[in-house]
Amino acid sequence: MSTVQKPAGEAAADEARKFRNALGWFTTGVAVITSCADGGRPIGITVNSFSSVSLDPPLVLWCLDKKSDTLPLFEKAKHFTVNVLREEHREISSRLARKGDHSLEAIELLHTESGCPALKEALAHFECEVEARHDAGDHVIMIGRVLKFDHAEDGRPLLYHRGGYQMLPPVG
Ligand SMILES: Cc1cc2nc3c(=O)[nH]c(=O)nc-3n(C[C@H](O)[C@H](O)[C@H](O)COP(=O)(O)O)c2cc1C
Repeated sequence: MSTVQKPAGEAAADEARKFRNALGWFTTGVAVITSCADGGRPIGITVNSFSSVSLDPPLVLWCLDKKSDTLPLFEKAKHFTVNVLREEHREISSRLARKGDHSLEAIELLHTESGCPALKEALAHFECEVEARHDAGDHVIMIGRVLKFDHAEDGRPLLYHRGGYQMLPPVG
């Protein structure tokens, strides 16, 4: 059993790797968060930290690394849209996880009232107003109040497990 203490140097790097490895056992879906600076070009970032928070009021969260180039945008953003990815979205997920490559060019989008576009083929969309931002270590917790949502009738989610993409096994 590893204890989360504060080692230094190589031991610290080893401990951080072990911590990530342990977290990797928690299998998640994958989402793209879209937003745009006032009147600017929309961008998208791949995350697996999306989670539901509250049903009444409807709140969701995701966490943004403070080292992300998108931090200045999300510090100002009033809205964002959460797009839950399908199996077929692996390439989009990898592209929007690359540093400096958050453009939504050539991705089919739907217009939303908030101006943060939705990915047309996503399994579910949650259009959110930023409710709160909480400082949390090396991340910022972004809490969104869901203003509108919809979902597909079928499809299979893209999963993330132990640092790699996975898919649900075929049914039956
Ligand atoms: C499956 C997956 C999940 C990720 N989840 C998160 C996340 O929850 N929060 C986050 O800040 N970055 C997450 N990332 C990393 C960002 O997508 C990536 O660091 C970022 O887009 C590239 O750096 P930049 O934001 O500085 O351009 C994830 C990456 C992948 C591939």
